[in-house]
Amino acid sequence: MTVTHDFDVLVIGSGAAGLSLALHVADHASVAVLSKNKLSSGSTSWAQGGIAAVLDDRDTKESHIEDTLNAGGGLCEYDAVKFVVDQGKEAINWLIENGADFTKESREDKQKAVEGDYHLTKEGGHSFRRVIHSADATGKEVQISLEKKVKAHPNITLFENHMAVDLISNDRRNIKTQKCVGAYILDTKNGKVEVFRAKSTVIATGGASRAYLYTSNPDGSTGDGIAMAWRMGCRVANMEFNQFHPTCLYHPETRTFLLTEALRGEGAYLRLPNGDRFMDRFDKRAELAPRDIVAHAIDHEMKRLGVECLYLDISHKNDEFIMEHFPTIYKRCLKLGFDLTKEPIPIVPAAHYTCGGVMTDLKARTDVKNLYAIGEVAHTGLHGANRMASNSLLECLVFANAAGKDIVKLIKKEKFSTTIKPWDESRVADSDEEVVVSHNWNELRHFMWDYVGIVRSTRRLQRAARRIEMLAGEIREYYGAFRITSDLLELRNLVTVSDLIVHSALQRTESRGLHHTLDFPDRDPDMDGRNTVLKPPRKPFSR
Ligand code: FAD
Ligand code: SIN
Repeated sequence: MTVTHDFDVLVIGSGAAGLSLALHVADHASVAVLSKNKLSSGSTSWAQGGIAAVLDDRDTKESHIEDTLNAGGGLCEYDAVKFVVDQGKEAINWLIENGADFTKESREDKQKAVEGDYHLTKEGGHSFRRVIHSADATGKEVQISLEKKVKAHPNITLFENHMAVDLISNDRRNIKTQKCVGAYILDTKNGKVEVFRAKSTVIATGGASRAYLYTSNPDGSTGDGIAMAWRMGCRVANMEFNQFHPTCLYHPETRTFLLTEALRGEGAYLRLPNGDRFMDRFDKRAELAPRDIVAHAIDHEMKRLGVECLYLDISHKNDEFIMEHFPTIYKRCLKLGFDLTKEPIPIVPAAHYTCGGVMTDLKARTDVKNLYAIGEVAHTGLHGANRMASNSLLECLVFANAAGKDIVKLIKKEKFSTTIKPWDESRVADSDEEVVVSHNWNELRHFMWDYVGIVRSTRRLQRAARRIEMLAGEIREYYGAFRITSDLLELRNLVTVSDLIVHSALQRTESRGLHHTLDFPDRDPDMDGRNTVLKPPRKPFSR
């Protein structure tokens, strides 16, 4: 018999977005928060640089808005940008009230930088110091303080190792009237699928950068929320804009370790193997140009010189300053044999952030009633063709608050659905071919890196599309025949998301922001303000 749980609000994901949402609604509702691994396993815990907000009297909201619009390459939606920037200070104060501890100015910084309590750093695209941070481990601080709060709240129940398989609709045949009434959830410890009934369901599952071979992201960034929402009938936008972070450590043992952009904000240079700086050839803001420009410049120079990495160098700064502001990175690099205070560090770009996602409005509502999407999984219109540094955590906080307010009103009039079908496993067997899953995972991530990376071409994208079609066929067969596992579910979702990335990229016949294609090397002014919006086919879903 399928076990059923009832909660007013089901939150799928336990990063900055999911935990904030839970705290915003918990005084008014029973809340379940799910994480497919540990609570802290999402990208939030890994965030380094900080959170952007207008916190200094000399900075202005207009400036934060303008910088975000510029970084976004003509595709940000002004209303969304203003909405987020306007609530920046309130969001940071809310975090501080909930226990987050941010770095204060040291005496040395005070003399030459900003007046005020907190140290604000700078990152690419920002024309002012506006990034509040907790040394170089901001995400860990945010995650720990929010976890403490949710664990202490009597209305919040936490489920680790619970993976959402699919959302449940009350009536899949009618897109206009259908509602999300909960989700099928795999308990990954015992392999059983349970039903979570909810009046309101929130997807807060993070991004999809694990579609690529090299990424700064944790293992779970497999685009599950985007794929589930797509299968449910939601529109998905701007998936071609996958952001590549310019500076991940180049080291055979650790291809996922980020060297925060705040290093460049505090004066680090990018250097060629011969020691020359090069960024001023690409943009007058040099190392502090927006990320799409810096990653593309690094890729260009690596290919021109035929080298496997370039270098990031902050060794000209005072040793104490480096160790105080970047303690995590300093220690990690030292362990791997590099001394940040003495030498340039080898770097390469890696997949970092999913700018597109499930389309939402300013209350985080998706196309399906009672289904919300917040955080990296969503496309709110804030990021356009390229997200500006440290705007992501801010977006998580602002939209968790907005969704929370809407949900509290909604659940007062909603009832639990009485027509949910139990999970049907009567026609499946245990898999005897797990190797198929791991082999397909590897294949997918290799060809996404090779054909759908920083520089694309129509031919490469078409090649990727053909491979994806084959993989999708195999996975459908496998999914229909065998009992599900978390690896199979992640692969199924990654293939769906990769398909969305490739098809969005094929539709964008220009180069803009993070999408650069050799066949259309210039920006097309006719495509200003035009998002790539994909609408799902409405195939009935069985099992
Ligand atoms: P996440 O924090 O990724 O959480 C996703 C959650 O969903 C996890 O709990 C996961 O277990 C759960 N989940 C996923 N799928 C399922 C499923 N099927 N079932 C159940 N649970 C599921 N942004 C900034 O603004 N500033 C920074 O300094 C910064 N630095 C970064 C550094 C690194 C190395 C990385 C990787 C990202 C950084 N970012 C930064 C981006 C930012 O951290 C993320 O965009 C943000 O944390 C996403 O938060 P989220 O709550 O949407 O998702
Ligand atoms: C970084 O610290 O460089 C990452 C910041 C971000 O992704 O916003």
